[in-house]
Amino acid sequence: MLCDTQHAKDWIRSRRLLLPLMIVLGIETSCDETAAAIVDGGMRVLSSVVRDQIAQHRPYGGVVPEVASRNHVVAIPEVIEEAVKQAGLEWGDIGAVAATYGPGLASSLLVGLSAGKALAMSLGVPFIGIDHIEAHIYSVFLNMDADTRAGICPFVALAVSGGHTCLVRVEQLGHYRLLGQTVDDAAGEAFDKGATLLGLGYPGGPAIDKAARSGDPAFVSFPRGRQKKEAEEIKGLNPELCFSFSGLKTALLYYLKKHPLSDDRHELASLAASYQAAIIDALISRCDKAITDETHIAAAGGVSLNSVLRSGLAEMASRRGITLLLAEPRFCADNAAMIAGLAGAGGGISGPAALELDATPGLRLAAAS
Ligand code: KG4
Ligand code: ZN
Repeated sequence: MLCDTQHAKDWIRSRRLLLPLMIVLGIETSCDETAAAIVDGGMRVLSSVVRDQIAQHRPYGGVVPEVASRNHVVAIPEVIEEAVKQAGLEWGDIGAVAATYGPGLASSLLVGLSAGKALAMSLGVPFIGIDHIEAHIYSVFLNMDADTRAGICPFVALAVSGGHTCLVRVEQLGHYRLLGQTVDDAAGEAFDKGATLLGLGYPGGPAIDKAARSGDPAFVSFPRGRQKKEAEEIKGLNPELCFSFSGLKTALLYYLKKHPLSDDRHELASLAASYQAAIIDALISRCDKAITDETHIAAAGGVSLNSVLRSGLAEMASRRGITLLLAEPRFCADNAAMIAGLAGAGGGISGPAALELDATPGLRLAAAS
C-alpha cells in the first residue's frame, strides 16, 4: 500500500513537470518567516512579501516553535492579501496555490500548508505541495533569463541555512542526487550559536559577518573537521562531502573559557572572523570537491548571504572556469517567491495527493521525479 502511494506520488510529480502553470501564489511558513509571493510562469516575480519574527525570538536567542506558529496564524491573512495587492492582481487571476509542506518546524509548516489548501479550494484552483530545500535550490532561477537557464544544468547546489546544510547535484529540475549533508548542526545554526557565545546577538549570521569585517581570520585556528564516522553512517554519502559544525561551537566555548571576552573590539572582531573562516572554509572546500569541470555551482539559503562565502565561491568558480549561481539577496533567506516559482515551473506534488499532504518536518529531497 505504501509502495502504491509512493508510486502514485512519483507519477503525479513526473506529470507535474510536464505541466507548468502560469500565475502561482506561493506560501512559506516552515520556520519563522511568514511569506507569500506571486510568480508568473515560474520565473517572473510579481510580488514577494516576507514578514520576519526576529523581534519576537530575539529574547530567546533562537526560534521558539510555539511563538513562531502563533505569529504565523496572526500574520498569514495579511501577508497573502498584501502579495496579491502588490502584484496588482485580483483573486481570479491566481492559477494555482503552492505551499511548503516540509522540511521545517511541524507547527509552523501546518499554518502555511492549511492556509494554502483552504485558499486553493476556495478559489477552485489546484494546490501544490513544495519541498523547502528544493525551493531554496530553485531560488537561483528566479528572474533569470531563458538563455542562462537553458545551459546551466548540471550544477552542484549548496543549500545552506539555519536548519539545513547539504550539497545536491542537480541534473535538471526535479532530478537531484544528495552528495553530502551535515551530520549535526546546520551552518546557520553554527553562526547563530557562535554569535550568542560572542555576545553579538540574534540572528547570528549577519552579526558575525558584520563584526568580522575588521578582524583577522587567522587570529585563532578553529577546527574545520568532519566527523567521518557519523558521515559514513549516512548511507551512500561520501564523508568527504559531509559537514560537521558542533565541534566548532564547542571549540569556541572552550576558547572563551580560557580567554574570556574583554573590551578589546579588535579581538572580538578577530574571533568572529576566525570562527566565520572555519565555517566558510568547510563549505567552500566541500563545494570544490563536489564540482567537476562540467558542473556549475549554486548557493542558496540564508547563509548564502554571507559576504565571505559569496566572494570565496566567486573566486573558486573563476579558478575552475565555471559559473556561480546565486539568488538575488532578497531570495536567499526564506521567502515565498521560491515556492511559487518552483510550483510554476512544474515542481512539487499536485492533484488529490497534494490535498492529503501532511506537514513533514523531516522531509528529504526526492532523488528524482
Ligand atoms: O534560509 P533561512 O532564512 O532559514 C532557514 O531555512 O533556516 O536562513 C536563516 C539563517 C540564520 O541562521 C542566519 O543567521 C543565517 O541564515 N544568515 C547568515 C547571514 N544572513 C543570514 N549567515 C551568515 N552570514 C550572513 N550574512
Ligand atoms: Zn530555508
